[in-house]
Amino acid sequence: MDIPWWRDAVVYEIYVRSFADASGDGVGDLAGVRERLPYLKELGVDAVWLTPFYPSPMADGGYDVADYRGVDPQFGTPADFDAMVADAHALGLRVLVDVVPNHSSSEHPWFQAALRGEGRDRYVFRDRPNNWQSTFSGPAWTQVDDGSWYLHLFAPEQPDFNWRNPEVREEFLDILRFWLDKGVDGFRIDVAMGLFKAEGLPDVGDQSFTSRSPVWGQPEVHDVYRDWRALLDTYPGDRMAVGEVWTDTLEDLALYVRPDELHQSFNFAWLQAPWSATAFRKVIDDTVATVPFATWVLSNHDVVRHRTRYGTADPGTGMSRAKAALLATLALPGSAYLYQGEELGLPEVENLPPEARQDPVFKRSGGELPGRDGCRVPIPWSARGDSYGFSPEGVKPWLPQPEEFAELSVARQTGDPDSTLEFYRRALACRRELGRTIPYELEWLESSEDVLVFARGPLVCALNCGVGPVPLPPHDGVLLASGPVGDTLPPDTAVWLRREVS
Ligand code: NOJ
Repeated sequence: MDIPWWRDAVVYEIYVRSFADASGDGVGDLAGVRERLPYLKELGVDAVWLTPFYPSPMADGGYDVADYRGVDPQFGTPADFDAMVADAHALGLRVLVDVVPNHSSSEHPWFQAALRGEGRDRYVFRDRPNNWQSTFSGPAWTQVDDGSWYLHLFAPEQPDFNWRNPEVREEFLDILRFWLDKGVDGFRIDVAMGLFKAEGLPDVGDQSFTSRSPVWGQPEVHDVYRDWRALLDTYPGDRMAVGEVWTDTLEDLALYVRPDELHQSFNFAWLQAPWSATAFRKVIDDTVATVPFATWVLSNHDVVRHRTRYGTADPGTGMSRAKAALLATLALPGSAYLYQGEELGLPEVENLPPEARQDPVFKRSGGELPGRDGCRVPIPWSARGDSYGFSPEGVKPWLPQPEEFAELSVARQTGDPDSTLEFYRRALACRRELGRTIPYELEWLESSEDVLVFARGPLVCALNCGVGPVPLPPHDGVLLASGPVGDTLPPDTAVWLRREVS
């Protein structure tokens, strides 16, 4: 069997609002993405995933879609989208787009009609609410003028679709066709384990992602992905889908990536693991044992950036660990998803002023939860200016950037061999060079408990999560290290070694 491109791809997540602003309104856009594609090519990724750019009132950063086939004017035009895809393909980069099937915007024409009493069965309306809570705090139900209630597992501006209605199913197949016909290479599926809710909508004691939850992961959802897979398979070029699936076990996760369902699903266990060789080893073992095509992700637009997660006490430690974690991530079998700005070593921006924060999580929790704006601060391209090159001069970006972004900017780091950016470029180039000479299978080599050492054919990766230096494993050459190594591997450091294999 030919190995499909996505099996070992490095996919770069573009949070469109915060990547590059070409139009000068302080918000990132598709023309900005297009201008920066050569940067991504040079970085060495294989594909980009674009977060929603569809018409949206932006109650949840675009994850409240009012028109699934359009482009919001603040992000550009359909022609900008086509030009961006054409340029990406010309550079050899694939393009994934986000699809948001669990809920629409309350401004979507279907929900507007539902409010007028037409086609209500496309959403989940009831006479009385149950006790479900919104993921963004507060009840998951909002009452409308005639006294009935509608379900929203996220913000009230994001009413949940009723997937038991065949019209919803048909509509999404048509939406997928629309973007496939425009040439996209695949989809990232938002809240992929949502969609269906248990019949009767019973009250819950606990709303976490367990296999018995009436809220998430109902068995009917798998029929939808079988339909989607069948559709994707009718298109040439290995079109694919990756699910945003939150589950409490990897066994549940594996259900979504059966051969006739999704191609991949994000492996959040990897980003949830603490800085511990034992914890990392367990996630790796469980993943390769249960999931046929593994993915690895350290950060995205919903979680605290991993540099900050790994270094709560000391930013230097966080940076060393983040670089070391990259080498482990890129050495593992399967594909890796990077989040914009991690190649610059951006930290979580924790001190955003309350009035600047826009995440509904912050607003709906009455400021109790900081929300996700801190990982969404616009990218610094240059070391100077009103927005560090994110917007044209004289324009302030939609979230303020801290002064330390000057030092972390692309311009400052480019060409500096000690920079995080050049380290990412070297790591991605080395991974590409090793390419498919590396078998998928992973083999554990002997190590102390605090150290991960695994090999895939000629590549050996060692990651020291302990507190003291350890001897380097036997090798025939050093390929790349995340920090200074001699005969020993210091703490918070990883190395790729070459070994002769017969
Ligand atoms: C997951 C998305 O990544 C997140 O940003 C969004 O708020 C929720 N789904 C709801 O769509």
